[in-house]
Amino acid sequence: MKSYSIALIPGDGIGRDVTAAAWTVLEKAAGNFGFALVGTEFPWSCSFFKDTGRMMPEDGIETLRGFDAILLGAVGWPAAVPDSVSLHGLLLPIRKAFVQYANIRPHRLLPGVTGPLRAERFDILCIRENTEGEYSGAGGRVHQGTLDEVAVETSIFTRAGVERILRFGFEQARSRRGKLASVTKSNAQKYSMVFWDEMTRKLAADYPDVTVTSYHVDALAARMIMAPESLDVVVASNLFGDILTDIGAAIQGGLGYAASANINPDRSAPSMFEPVHGSAPDIAHLGIANPIAAIWSGAMMLDHLREKVAAERVMKAVEATTAKGIGTIPGKDSTEAITAAIVAALT
Ligand code: NAD
Ligand code: IPM
Ligand code: MN
Repeated sequence: MKSYSIALIPGDGIGRDVTAAAWTVLEKAAGNFGFALVGTEFPWSCSFFKDTGRMMPEDGIETLRGFDAILLGAVGWPAAVPDSVSLHGLLLPIRKAFVQYANIRPHRLLPGVTGPLRAERFDILCIRENTEGEYSGAGGRVHQGTLDEVAVETSIFTRAGVERILRFGFEQARSRRGKLASVTKSNAQKYSMVFWDEMTRKLAADYPDVTVTSYHVDALAARMIMAPESLDVVVASNLFGDILTDIGAAIQGGLGYAASANINPDRSAPSMFEPVHGSAPDIAHLGIANPIAAIWSGAMMLDHLREKVAAERVMKAVEATTAKGIGTIPGKDSTEAITAAIVAALT
């Protein structure tokens, strides 16, 4: 029997509840479809930081490297640990160390879920650059606390980094409806984004079957709300992609439905699967977090592990559940009830 080793990092707040929910569904899927998932849980989180002074042990990255995939809940508990410490101590280093350069985030309405828009038929796949750009971490502060204070944070766009994410976007567009929206801001950012646009045009020659359009990020943000059905694959830099995918989450009914996969496309290190949302301190401990985003992310993990049938059947079970109105109204159904309904629908 095939067996996959999965590192589980539930993290903070509702991350714990939704990871447990996703794991329950994934284990049922493994049983049904004849493979094994062997989970190893790591308590790395803000409470781990309180106990140890670190978000993960010094050899945390090396520990994770041996796993087939990582399933993560959410990281961050700003009341206890500043986000700038917690995220740079756990989530962001994993994305970078394992070269998970493609962050894939699907946005569509599940059956039975009512979004805020009139448009109900949209199916957008956002591809977010995940290792450099505005998140490069290059910068510093001097003269802190004085009138001469300076804070600098430099975006870094490398040719290798831009080319690989754009190619990934073109490939995804080719495997879908053949439309790629490349997100820019070259009217204001005259170095990095002009370079991004040039690379988009250059690579377009290799993908004559894909129709590529460059949109400024502000206009694309509006388009995602006014005409989301006009979009297929969207490829964006790290920060632009972060912001646009919260819009994507909003139009698909909320963060409780937005899934995400941090992919290392050449499989030289594990990929990581996590919902788009965070630890939701405002509803943590209430037992009402929607686990669908985490379960959908788990389905993306099965797909990446090449368990395609199981991945599809998990999504079918999610869709059958929301079609019945379960998990479609915020706060109505408990995390446990939604999970149980999905497990029951998984055949
Ligand atoms: P958030 O995503 O945690 O919450 C935003 C809003 O969405 C809240 O009102 C919350 O209740 C709601 N929400 C989120 N997920 C939900 C779900 N599954 N079901 C129902 N409602 C849900 O964003 P935030 O409040 O900006 O951040 C809280 C903490 O999480 C911060 O520390 C932040 O840095 C961190 N964060 C982590 C990740 C991650 O680990 N990938 C992502 C985003 C934010
Ligand atoms: C996300 C989150 C993270 C990001 C934060 C928590 C650093 O917002 O995964 O969308 O900006 O990448
Ligand atoms: Mn985000």
